[in-house]
Amino acid sequence: MKVKTRGMKIGILTAGGDCPGLNAAIRGVGKTAIVEYGMKVYGISSGFLGLIDREYRELNESELSGILTLGGTILGTSREKPFKEDKKKLDRIDKPGLIRKHYEEMGLDALVCIGGNGTQRTASRLAKEGLNVIGLPKTIDNDVWGTDVSFGFDSAVFIATDAIDRLHSTANSHKRIMVIEVMGHNAGWLALYSGIAGGGDVILIPEIPYEEQIVTDYLVRRASNEKPYSIVVVAEGIRHKKGKPAAQYIGDMITTETGLETRETILGYIQRGGSPTPADRLLATRYGTSAVEMISRGEFGVMVALHGNKIVGVPLSEVEGKQRTVEPDHPFIHNSRKIDICFGDRK
Ligand code: F6P
Repeated sequence: MKVKTRGMKIGILTAGGDCPGLNAAIRGVGKTAIVEYGMKVYGISSGFLGLIDREYRELNESELSGILTLGGTILGTSREKPFKEDKKKLDRIDKPGLIRKHYEEMGLDALVCIGGNGTQRTASRLAKEGLNVIGLPKTIDNDVWGTDVSFGFDSAVFIATDAIDRLHSTANSHKRIMVIEVMGHNAGWLALYSGIAGGGDVILIPEIPYEEQIVTDYLVRRASNEKPYSIVVVAEGIRHKKGKPAAQYIGDMITTETGLETRETILGYIQRGGSPTPADRLLATRYGTSAVEMISRGEFGVMVALHGNKIVGVPLSEVEGKQRTVEPDHPFIHNSRKIDICFGDRK
Protein backbone atom coordinates (compact mmCIF):
# COMPACT_ATOMS: atom_id res chain seq x y z
CA MET A 1 0.00 0.00 0.00
CA LYS A 2 1.34 3.44 -0.95
CA VAL A 3 0.44 6.38 1.24
CA LYS A 4 0.61 10.07 0.41
CA THR A 5 3.64 11.38 2.21
CA ARG A 6 3.64 15.18 1.89
CA GLY A 7 2.65 16.77 5.20
CA MET A 8 2.80 13.43 7.06
CA LYS A 9 4.00 13.83 10.63
CA ILE A 10 6.53 11.41 12.05
CA GLY A 11 7.92 11.26 15.55
CA ILE A 12 11.38 9.97 16.38
CA LEU A 13 12.84 8.92 19.72
CA THR A 14 16.00 7.30 21.06
CA ALA A 15 15.57 4.99 24.06
CA GLY A 16 17.74 2.77 26.28
CA GLY A 17 21.50 3.14 26.75
CA ASP A 18 23.09 5.52 24.27
CA CYS A 19 25.70 4.50 21.70
CA PRO A 20 27.70 6.03 18.85
CA GLY A 21 25.60 6.44 15.70
CA LEU A 22 22.32 7.63 17.23
CA ASN A 23 22.66 11.09 15.72
CA ALA A 24 23.63 9.61 12.35
CA ALA A 25 20.37 7.61 12.45
CA ILE A 26 18.29 10.63 13.53
CA ARG A 27 19.85 12.56 10.64
CA GLY A 28 19.13 9.70 8.22
CA VAL A 29 15.47 9.55 9.24
CA GLY A 30 15.01 13.32 9.45
CA LYS A 31 16.68 14.36 6.22
CA THR A 32 14.99 11.63 4.20
CA ALA A 33 11.60 12.49 5.66
CA ILE A 34 11.92 16.24 5.12
CA VAL A 35 13.90 16.48 1.88
CA GLU A 36 12.76 13.39 0.00
CA TYR A 37 9.17 13.00 1.20
CA GLY A 38 8.06 16.44 2.44
CA MET A 39 7.14 15.11 5.88
CA LYS A 40 7.29 16.97 9.21
CA VAL A 41 9.61 15.46 11.80
CA TYR A 42 9.17 15.72 15.57
CA GLY A 43 12.04 14.87 17.89
CA ILE A 44 10.71 13.38 21.14
CA SER A 45 12.83 13.99 24.25
CA SER A 46 14.31 11.29 26.48
CA GLY A 47 12.88 8.15 24.90
CA PHE A 48 9.35 7.09 25.85
CA LEU A 49 9.38 9.62 28.71
CA GLY A 50 8.95 12.39 26.14
CA LEU A 51 5.79 10.76 24.83
CA ILE A 52 4.41 10.37 28.36
CA ASP A 53 5.26 13.98 29.31
CA ARG A 54 4.50 15.41 25.85
CA GLU A 55 8.00 16.80 25.43
CA TYR A 56 8.97 17.18 21.81
CA ARG A 57 9.99 19.73 19.20
CA GLU A 58 9.85 19.96 15.45
CA LEU A 59 13.22 19.24 13.87
CA ASN A 60 14.16 21.30 10.85
CA GLU A 61 16.74 20.46 8.25
CA SER A 62 19.44 22.75 9.65
CA GLU A 63 19.23 21.05 13.08
CA LEU A 64 19.98 17.77 11.35
CA SER A 65 23.15 19.09 9.76
CA GLY A 66 26.52 18.65 11.43
CA ILE A 67 25.41 15.82 13.72
CA LEU A 68 26.60 12.81 11.72
CA THR A 69 29.85 12.46 13.65
CA LEU A 70 28.48 13.51 17.03
CA GLY A 71 28.35 10.96 19.89
CA GLY A 72 25.31 10.60 22.18
CA THR A 73 21.86 11.66 21.04
CA ILE A 74 20.56 15.18 20.42
CA LEU A 75 17.15 13.98 21.67
CA GLY A 76 18.34 12.55 24.98
CA THR A 77 17.42 9.06 26.13
CA SER A 78 16.03 7.20 29.12
CA ARG A 79 15.36 3.63 30.18
CA GLU A 80 11.64 4.37 30.69
CA LYS A 81 9.58 1.19 30.12
CA PRO A 82 5.97 2.37 29.90
CA PHE A 83 4.46 -1.14 29.99
CA LYS A 84 6.35 -2.21 33.10
CA GLU A 85 4.04 -2.14 36.11
CA ASP A 86 5.32 -0.23 39.09
CA LYS A 87 3.78 -2.39 41.82
CA LYS A 88 4.97 -0.13 44.65
CA LYS A 89 3.21 3.04 43.51
CA LEU A 90 -0.41 3.38 44.56
CA ASP A 91 -1.23 6.19 42.14
CA ARG A 92 -0.34 4.18 39.06
CA ILE A 93 -0.30 6.23 35.87
CA ASP A 94 -1.62 4.68 32.67
CA LYS A 95 1.58 5.38 30.71
CA PRO A 96 0.62 3.45 27.55
CA GLY A 97 -2.70 5.34 27.62
CA LEU A 98 -0.87 8.67 27.86
CA ILE A 99 1.42 7.69 24.99
CA ARG A 100 -1.56 6.81 22.80
CA LYS A 101 -3.30 10.06 23.74
CA HIS A 102 -0.25 12.23 23.03
CA TYR A 103 0.54 10.39 19.79
CA GLU A 104 -2.98 11.27 18.62
CA GLU A 105 -2.89 14.84 19.92
CA MET A 106 0.43 15.41 18.14
CA GLY A 107 -1.24 14.13 14.98
CA LEU A 108 1.55 11.62 14.34
CA ASP A 109 1.25 9.32 11.36
CA ALA A 110 4.23 7.21 12.41
CA LEU A 111 6.72 6.78 15.24
CA VAL A 112 10.33 5.71 14.77
CA CYS A 113 11.76 4.06 17.90
CA ILE A 114 15.54 3.74 17.94
CA GLY A 115 16.79 1.36 20.60
CA GLY A 116 17.85 -2.06 21.79
CA ASN A 117 15.83 -5.08 22.87
CA GLY A 118 13.80 -3.26 25.53
CA THR A 119 12.87 -0.52 23.07
CA GLN A 120 11.82 -3.03 20.40
CA ARG A 121 9.61 -4.74 22.98
CA THR A 122 7.89 -1.46 23.85
CA ALA A 123 7.62 -0.60 20.14
CA SER A 124 5.96 -3.96 19.52
CA ARG A 125 3.44 -3.41 22.33
CA LEU A 126 2.62 0.07 20.96
CA ALA A 127 2.18 -1.40 17.47
CA LYS A 128 -0.30 -3.91 18.94
CA GLU A 129 -2.20 -0.94 20.41
CA GLY A 130 -2.60 0.47 16.92
CA LEU A 131 0.28 2.99 16.64
CA ASN A 132 2.21 3.04 13.36
CA VAL A 133 5.61 2.07 14.69
CA ILE A 134 8.96 1.34 13.07
CA GLY A 135 11.89 0.03 15.12
CA LEU A 136 15.58 0.74 14.46
CA PRO A 137 18.16 -1.52 16.16
CA LYS A 138 21.02 0.12 18.02
CA THR A 139 23.24 -1.15 20.81
CA ILE A 140 26.89 -1.67 21.58
CA ASP A 141 25.89 -5.17 22.78
CA ASN A 142 24.84 -6.33 19.26
CA ASP A 143 22.18 -8.51 20.88
CA VAL A 144 19.05 -7.30 19.11
CA TRP A 145 17.33 -10.34 17.66
CA GLY A 146 16.30 -10.32 13.99
CA THR A 147 19.19 -8.36 12.49
CA ASP A 148 22.75 -9.36 11.62
CA VAL A 149 24.11 -6.24 13.26
CA SER A 150 23.00 -3.21 15.29
CA PHE A 151 24.71 0.14 14.89
CA GLY A 152 26.92 1.21 17.80
CA PHE A 153 28.54 -2.20 17.95
CA ASP A 154 31.34 -1.49 15.48
CA SER A 155 32.33 1.68 17.35
CA ALA A 156 32.40 -0.15 20.68
CA VAL A 157 34.53 -2.93 19.16
CA PHE A 158 36.92 -0.25 17.91
CA ILE A 159 37.18 1.42 21.33
CA ALA A 160 37.57 -1.87 23.24
CA THR A 161 40.17 -3.15 20.75
CA ASP A 162 42.16 0.06 21.13
CA ALA A 163 42.08 -0.36 24.92
CA ILE A 164 43.27 -3.97 24.68
CA ASP A 165 46.05 -2.91 22.28
CA ARG A 166 47.25 -0.46 24.89
CA LEU A 167 47.27 -3.08 27.63
CA HIS A 168 49.76 -5.22 25.70
CA SER A 169 52.70 -2.86 26.15
CA THR A 170 52.18 -2.22 29.84
CA ALA A 171 51.49 -5.93 30.46
CA ASN A 172 54.74 -6.79 28.69
CA SER A 173 56.79 -4.20 30.61
CA HIS A 174 55.66 -5.57 33.97
CA LYS A 175 55.19 -9.23 32.98
CA ARG A 176 51.63 -9.18 34.28
CA ILE A 177 48.30 -10.77 33.57
CA MET A 178 45.89 -8.05 32.44
CA VAL A 179 42.18 -8.69 32.86
CA ILE A 180 39.90 -6.33 30.95
CA GLU A 181 36.13 -6.25 31.35
CA VAL A 182 34.01 -5.07 28.45
CA MET A 183 30.26 -4.42 28.33
CA GLY A 184 27.74 -6.50 26.41
CA HIS A 185 24.96 -7.15 28.93
CA ASN A 186 24.17 -10.89 28.75
CA ALA A 187 25.82 -11.36 25.36
CA GLY A 188 29.47 -11.95 24.52
CA TRP A 189 29.66 -10.25 21.11
CA LEU A 190 31.75 -7.29 22.23
CA ALA A 191 34.19 -9.44 24.24
CA LEU A 192 34.49 -11.93 21.39
CA TYR A 193 35.14 -9.37 18.63
CA SER A 194 37.42 -7.05 20.60
CA GLY A 195 39.14 -10.01 22.25
CA ILE A 196 40.11 -11.54 18.92
CA ALA A 197 40.92 -8.19 17.26
CA GLY A 198 42.99 -7.11 20.28
CA GLY A 199 44.97 -10.33 20.49
CA GLY A 200 43.46 -11.54 23.78
CA ASP A 201 44.75 -14.88 25.09
CA VAL A 202 41.69 -15.80 27.16
CA ILE A 203 38.18 -14.67 26.21
CA LEU A 204 35.33 -15.38 28.61
CA ILE A 205 31.77 -14.90 27.37
CA PRO A 206 28.41 -15.71 28.98
CA GLU A 207 27.49 -18.18 26.22
CA ILE A 208 30.44 -20.49 26.99
CA PRO A 209 30.54 -21.66 30.62
CA TYR A 210 34.15 -21.61 31.84
CA GLU A 211 36.03 -23.64 34.41
CA GLU A 212 38.41 -21.69 36.63
CA GLN A 213 40.97 -24.50 36.64
CA ILE A 214 41.12 -24.52 32.82
CA VAL A 215 41.77 -20.75 32.76
CA THR A 216 44.50 -20.87 35.42
CA ASP A 217 46.19 -23.96 33.91
CA TYR A 218 46.29 -22.18 30.56
CA LEU A 219 47.84 -19.01 32.07
CA VAL A 220 50.44 -21.00 34.01
CA ARG A 221 51.33 -22.95 30.85
CA ARG A 222 51.82 -19.67 28.96
CA ALA A 223 54.01 -18.26 31.74
CA SER A 224 56.15 -21.39 31.79
CA ASN A 225 56.44 -21.27 27.99
CA GLU A 226 58.21 -17.94 28.32
CA LYS A 227 55.19 -15.90 27.34
CA PRO A 228 55.93 -12.88 29.55
CA TYR A 229 52.34 -11.71 29.89
CA SER A 230 48.73 -12.63 29.08
CA ILE A 231 45.58 -10.67 28.27
CA VAL A 232 42.25 -11.94 29.60
CA VAL A 233 39.14 -10.37 28.04
CA VAL A 234 36.02 -10.81 30.14
CA ALA A 235 32.42 -10.00 29.20
CA GLU A 236 30.57 -8.23 32.01
CA GLY A 237 27.80 -10.84 31.83
CA ILE A 238 29.85 -13.97 32.65
CA ARG A 239 28.91 -16.09 35.66
CA HIS A 240 30.78 -14.85 38.72
CA LYS A 241 30.18 -14.26 42.42
CA LYS A 242 27.85 -11.35 43.05
CA GLY A 243 29.20 -8.22 44.73
CA LYS A 244 32.31 -7.90 42.57
CA PRO A 245 32.64 -6.85 38.94
CA ALA A 246 33.49 -9.77 36.61
CA ALA A 247 37.07 -8.55 36.00
CA GLN A 248 37.73 -8.21 39.71
CA TYR A 249 36.42 -11.69 40.39
CA ILE A 250 38.51 -13.27 37.63
CA GLY A 251 41.61 -11.21 38.57
CA ASP A 252 41.39 -12.23 42.24
CA MET A 253 40.84 -15.85 41.29
CA ILE A 254 43.93 -15.84 39.02
CA THR A 255 46.13 -14.25 41.71
CA THR A 256 44.95 -16.69 44.39
CA GLU A 257 45.26 -19.80 42.24
CA THR A 258 48.48 -19.02 40.32
CA GLY A 259 50.38 -16.35 42.23
CA LEU A 260 50.87 -14.52 38.93
CA GLU A 261 50.78 -10.74 39.22
CA THR A 262 47.43 -9.54 37.89
CA ARG A 263 45.79 -6.18 37.22
CA GLU A 264 42.21 -5.38 36.23
CA THR A 265 40.66 -2.76 33.95
CA ILE A 266 36.92 -2.13 33.69
CA LEU A 267 36.44 -0.21 30.48
CA GLY A 268 32.92 1.06 31.30
CA TYR A 269 31.07 3.88 29.59
CA ILE A 270 34.00 4.90 27.40
CA GLN A 271 32.69 2.12 25.14
CA ARG A 272 29.48 4.06 24.53
CA GLY A 273 30.91 7.51 24.01
CA GLY A 274 32.30 9.58 21.19
CA SER A 275 32.11 9.62 17.44
CA PRO A 276 30.80 6.60 15.50
CA THR A 277 33.11 4.64 13.22
CA PRO A 278 32.58 4.97 9.44
CA ALA A 279 30.86 1.53 9.42
CA ASP A 280 28.37 2.69 12.08
CA ARG A 281 27.74 5.96 10.23
CA LEU A 282 26.95 3.99 7.09
CA LEU A 283 24.70 1.50 8.89
CA ALA A 284 22.83 4.13 10.91
CA THR A 285 22.27 6.23 7.78
CA ARG A 286 21.06 3.19 5.88
CA TYR A 287 18.68 2.15 8.68
CA GLY A 288 17.40 5.72 9.01
CA THR A 289 16.66 6.24 5.33
CA SER A 290 15.13 2.75 5.03
CA ALA A 291 12.79 3.42 7.96
CA VAL A 292 11.30 6.39 6.11
CA GLU A 293 10.99 4.39 2.90
CA MET A 294 9.00 1.83 4.87
CA ILE A 295 6.78 4.57 6.30
CA SER A 296 6.21 5.89 2.77
CA ARG A 297 5.02 2.41 1.72
CA GLY A 298 2.75 2.15 4.76
CA GLU A 299 4.82 -0.68 6.16
CA PHE A 300 4.46 -0.55 9.96
CA GLY A 301 4.97 -2.78 12.98
CA VAL A 302 8.43 -3.80 11.76
CA MET A 303 12.04 -3.35 12.78
CA VAL A 304 14.49 -2.29 10.09
CA ALA A 305 17.11 -5.04 9.88
CA LEU A 306 20.14 -6.14 7.91
CA HIS A 307 20.10 -9.66 6.49
CA GLY A 308 23.31 -10.25 4.55
CA ASN A 309 23.57 -7.06 2.56
CA LYS A 310 19.82 -6.53 2.27
CA ILE A 311 17.61 -4.28 4.35
CA VAL A 312 14.39 -5.99 5.42
CA GLY A 313 11.50 -5.29 7.77
CA VAL A 314 11.21 -7.91 10.53
CA PRO A 315 7.83 -7.96 12.35
CA LEU A 316 8.27 -6.42 15.81
CA SER A 317 6.05 -9.18 17.22
CA GLU A 318 8.79 -11.66 16.22
CA VAL A 319 11.60 -9.55 17.69
CA GLU A 320 9.79 -8.97 21.00
CA GLY A 321 11.20 -10.86 23.97
CA LYS A 322 14.16 -12.41 22.14
CA GLN A 323 17.89 -11.83 22.44
CA ARG A 324 20.62 -12.54 19.91
CA THR A 325 23.52 -14.25 21.66
CA VAL A 326 26.75 -15.81 20.41
CA GLU A 327 26.28 -19.38 19.17
CA PRO A 328 29.01 -21.52 20.82
CA ASP A 329 29.87 -22.91 17.34
CA HIS A 330 30.23 -19.41 15.82
CA PRO A 331 32.97 -19.43 13.12
CA PHE A 332 35.00 -16.85 15.10
CA ILE A 333 35.16 -19.22 18.06
CA HIS A 334 36.21 -22.06 15.79
CA ASN A 335 39.00 -19.88 14.28
CA SER A 336 40.10 -18.61 17.68
CA ARG A 337 40.60 -22.09 19.05
CA LYS A 338 42.97 -22.78 16.14
CA ILE A 339 45.26 -19.99 17.37
CA ASP A 340 45.14 -21.24 20.97
CA ILE A 341 42.72 -18.65 22.37
CA CYS A 342 41.26 -20.10 25.57
CA PHE A 343 37.51 -19.83 26.25
CA GLY A 344 37.84 -21.57 29.59
CA ASP A 345 35.90 -24.63 28.51
CA ARG A 346 38.54 -26.90 26.90
CA LYS A 347 42.09 -27.83 27.83
O1 F6P B 1 22.95 -2.11 26.68
C1 F6P B 1 24.03 -1.26 26.61
C2 F6P B 1 24.78 -1.26 27.90
O2 F6P B 1 25.86 -0.36 27.75
C3 F6P B 1 25.26 -2.61 28.40
O3 F6P B 1 26.40 -3.06 27.73
C4 F6P B 1 25.44 -2.34 29.88
O4 F6P B 1 25.29 -3.51 30.62
C5 F6P B 1 24.33 -1.39 30.17
O5 F6P B 1 23.98 -0.77 28.95
C6 F6P B 1 24.64 -0.30 31.17
O6 F6P B 1 23.46 0.39 31.42
P1 F6P B 1 23.25 1.78 32.15
O7 F6P B 1 23.42 2.85 31.13
O8 F6P B 1 21.84 1.71 32.62
O9 F6P B 1 24.24 1.84 33.25
